Amino acid sequence: MKRYWKIAVLANIKDDNHPKPEGVPPDAFSDFDHIETIDALRAALETDGHSTLFIQADKELPYALKEIQPDICFNIAEGLGGDAREAQVPALLEMLGIPYTGSRVLANGISLDKTLTKRIWRDRRLPVAPFQEFILGDEPLRAELKFPLFVKPAREGTGMGVDLNAIVNNEKELRERAQYIINVYQQPALVETFLPGREFTVGILGRADAKLFSRHPEWYEKDGFHRFPILELDTSRSVTPWVYTHAAKSKDVGPEDAPGYICPADIDPELEKKLKYFALRAHQLLYTLDVSRTDIRLDEEGNPRVMEINTLPGLTPDYSDLCLQAKAEGIRYEDLVLDILYLGASRWGMLEPRELPPETGKKK
Ligand SMILES: Nc1ncnc2c1ncn2[C@@H]1O[C@H](COP(=O)(O)OP(=O)(O)OP(=O)(O)O)[C@@H](O)[C@H]1O
Ligand SMILES: [Mg+2]
Repeated sequence: MKRYWKIAVLANIKDDNHPKPEGVPPDAFSDFDHIETIDALRAALETDGHSTLFIQADKELPYALKEIQPDICFNIAEGLGGDAREAQVPALLEMLGIPYTGSRVLANGISLDKTLTKRIWRDRRLPVAPFQEFILGDEPLRAELKFPLFVKPAREGTGMGVDLNAIVNNEKELRERAQYIINVYQQPALVETFLPGREFTVGILGRADAKLFSRHPEWYEKDGFHRFPILELDTSRSVTPWVYTHAAKSKDVGPEDAPGYICPADIDPELEKKLKYFALRAHQLLYTLDVSRTDIRLDEEGNPRVMEINTLPGLTPDYSDLCLQAKAEGIRYEDLVLDILYLGASRWGMLEPRELPPETGKKK
């Protein structure tokens, strides 16, 4: 078995020098990565002896993959358009039979669609805010949805389409905002009860057999999962008070008008247990693999409501929520990235399982 691999990091890169194509929303491509993030990922992967290169996940990707023939791809590609863009690269890699990290096609496709995701969670009794999808914008509002409501694009991330006008207080504002989302973002508007409480994000790493392939089996609990310390987003002091908007997400960590990042969050053990339990359930119900970050907010009674899951969480060192969570418990960026690599590689038969003491080493 090969010990050192040729790893292709697949991503969509932001190019701030190029004007955006016509007809796309003002915050289009905000989920794309900066080249510095790719450099950091590559440096981390190389610390364990692998060689790396970066391939832009654009229309040339299939040809580049055929030419380069990587042993495995480290996938953080957001994809290009369509109704499930985050699933495009995994689908291509499945078709070509090339190993890759993280979630597969279904999880990446469904999780981008917040409405479908919530339907699956609701069916399995995970607490979500009451919601309704508006496709045309003039659908009658269901009685269970009481103002104030929150309106966002059904299939975006990184706070795209979310600003302070997302909170609507009456019929007129609701119709205007829903129509705006449908027209500008060319997709359904998801309307939810506004959740006025605290906001948390919960990171999960692992799999039932993670201990067998990780360089740090001690990170993982008996069930094979690592729960990162919970990060609270103190949005009260941000440029957009109370909402973690696109504008707030674009701020560097630290300045006065940026959201506060508190990790570990100051919460009672009971709430902590609930948040971690819901995040793991959210992860498992969507067939997410190896790594995810689930956003949860409290409703007016203080009960957690799961908002959405990120199956391709940002991995910019000292900036992305998951990296801040890892850092808060002393996990180095390099070690986090390498565990995502090895958990992925193990699924493709690229790693021998390690010998563990009998009581912890049993494969489930
Ligand atoms: N129902 C709601 N009530 C109150 N605030 C909400 C609600 N839904 C979303 N928000 C706010 O809007 C932000 C963005 O929403 P959400 O997490 O669903 O979208 P996102 O853009 O996909 O996020 P990410 O950057 O994590 O991918 C949340 O972090 C939260 O602050
Ligand atoms: Mg979110």
